[in-house]
Amino acid sequence: MRLWALLGFVVYGCHGTFQQLADSNERMLASSADMPKSRVHSNPLLTTLRHWGRYAASTYQRYEDWDNCTDCQAPDIAETELNSTWSTALPAFSRGYVGIHHGRREVVVAFRGTTHIMDTLSDAQIAQVPWPPSSDGSDTIDGTSRVHWGFLLAYKAAQLQIRDALETIARDARLADYSLHFVGHSLGAAQATLAFVDYSLGYPEYSNEKGRKAGRTFPRSCSLVTFGSPRVGNLQFIRLVDSPSTCVGWHRRSDDKLDESVLRVVHESDIVPHLPRSMLLLGRYSHAGRETWARDAAGEAASEIIICSHHADDGKEDPQCSAGTSPLGWNILDHLVYPGIQLHILPDFLHPLAPLANV
Ligand SMILES: *[C@@H]1O[C@H](CO)[C@@H](O)[C@H](O)[C@H]1NC(C)=O
Ligand SMILES: *[C@@H]1O[C@H](CO)[C@@H](O)[C@H](O)[C@H]1NC(C)=O
Repeated sequence: MRLWALLGFVVYGCHGTFQQLADSNERMLASSADMPKSRVHSNPLLTTLRHWGRYAASTYQRYEDWDNCTDCQAPDIAETELNSTWSTALPAFSRGYVGIHHGRREVVVAFRGTTHIMDTLSDAQIAQVPWPPSSDGSDTIDGTSRVHWGFLLAYKAAQLQIRDALETIARDARLADYSLHFVGHSLGAAQATLAFVDYSLGYPEYSNEKGRKAGRTFPRSCSLVTFGSPRVGNLQFIRLVDSPSTCVGWHRRSDDKLDESVLRVVHESDIVPHLPRSMLLLGRYSHAGRETWARDAAGEAASEIIICSHHADDGKEDPQCSAGTSPLGWNILDHLVYPGIQLHILPDFLHPLAPLANV
């Protein structure tokens, strides 16, 4: 599916294209009959999303350039120490870092996306496999939680390194009251979702009762913020993500009056969040987390946020948000623009060899 990349690249090469894009979105806005509730242009939620978006975007930089890149040097994240970084190409692409920001007392696990996202969403890897395994070694939690095989392969390429890094952090008493955040864009969003669940359920030594009895208080709170995430698993899996016991024993984050620790940001008509579709033999896919729909207002991309309704029980998506848009308008360009995620990721993101360039 290089077509997507090609299309995006060609359009990126034309000046004024994003203005046209914004204009057409404005037309769409003007013609949309039912205006959903809470629309906000500039508020703490947007600021928060830009903050996490910068973490997600900075995974597209070379780590050697951390001191000299626009996203990484934004004032809110500039002081982040890269505690652990990884880049794998085989058996699957995964790239990201564990960062620590002492000033904000935040630990961030950030995952990069890949130009192969459309491939991953259109090939055999969309078959589902049982995951996560239960802590007592039996096959799965209840035998029915299943996830996208390709996303799991990608996450597994980094899993042990992330666990090691987080375990060391959890044992460091100086970091005991730090919060923990998983972020990612595109394929990185899918991996962040898997990492969030893995952390919550899979690290028995310090993320459960036993860890608390041993006096561990890290993390103070947890969150998962995804940008342009595809659907990751079936209904049983997304219930694990949305479960109130996720990041068990710690306060759930309640920023910005959203009493939730899972936010799923979708920009306008980004096609990726509409994939994979459920298929009879391959499995059903649902979305975890409350959608926040970033729309384009006043010609500025992803500048208006709509907080959508969320049905954790049946995975139904709010018809007044991105689920209500026409498939004819879905596109890959909207996948590349998110709050805090700047266009300069484009050439690298679309370069066919990008995933290998920094390994
Ligand atoms: C910082 O980035 C700019 C623009 O990419 C480049 O011209 C400059 O050489 C870089 N500086 C260092 C110290 O890497
Ligand atoms: C990562 O953080 C842990 C916990 O504070 C620390 O022991 C370790 O030295 C750090 N590693 C790096 C490379 O900064």
